[in-house]
Amino acid sequence: MKLFIDTANMQEIRDGARLGVISGVTTNPSLAAMEGIGNRENYRAAVQEISDILDGPISVEVVSLEAEGMVAEGREIAEWIPNPWVKIPSTVAGFEAIATLAKDGIKVNQTLCFSLNQALLGAQAGSFVVSPFVGRLDDIGQQGMDLVEDIVSVFRQQKIETQVLAASVRTSLHCSQAARAGAHIATVPYKVLLQMVQHPLTDSGVSRFLSDWGKAGNS
Ligand code: G3P
Repeated sequence: MKLFIDTANMQEIRDGARLGVISGVTTNPSLAAMEGIGNRENYRAAVQEISDILDGPISVEVVSLEAEGMVAEGREIAEWIPNPWVKIPSTVAGFEAIATLAKDGIKVNQTLCFSLNQALLGAQAGSFVVSPFVGRLDDIGQQGMDLVEDIVSVFRQQKIETQVLAASVRTSLHCSQAARAGAHIATVPYKVLLQMVQHPLTDSGVSRFLSDWGKAGNS
């Protein structure tokens, strides 16, 4: 399972990229707004800066509600950087836009996916990757990870090539669960990436090694 970083914060992207474990970036309008990115021009500049930091795909979301607007935005975004994935929501207008963009050869990250049926529709329309939102399903009392498992299993069974990207990941537990479920990608906030590193036995082990080394007279 590949790891993407879910942020529009340049420092977090730089820090994540330095670890050598990040293969892509996902953004959305909320994450962009959190960084003070308030218009299209700023969003484009930010996405181009991200693309200079990291080689992998960068997901950029449309904000139009109608298919025509989504397609126009998607085509524009596709020109911004070498490796764009256009995020399109799982709505009626979204499926229409996915079908058109996919025919253009543009890679679509079908976002805001909350059901197997939405994932199946997106795959038929031509989504390159589908993003089930784990944490937001957990938020309403459902097991979000069940949806990831379900989509992975049905896509495998039916030989559907659309990849599964676990999104709305909130904890390091979500990451290991997504991997066990067979997700191709998990996109994680920077703080979750750091949680994945942590283990108390690693920290105490490093301390003990250093102390033993010191006791033997080494510096
Ligand atoms: O990748 C989608 C993700 O950013 C949504 O996460 O935590 O806002 O549900 P969250």
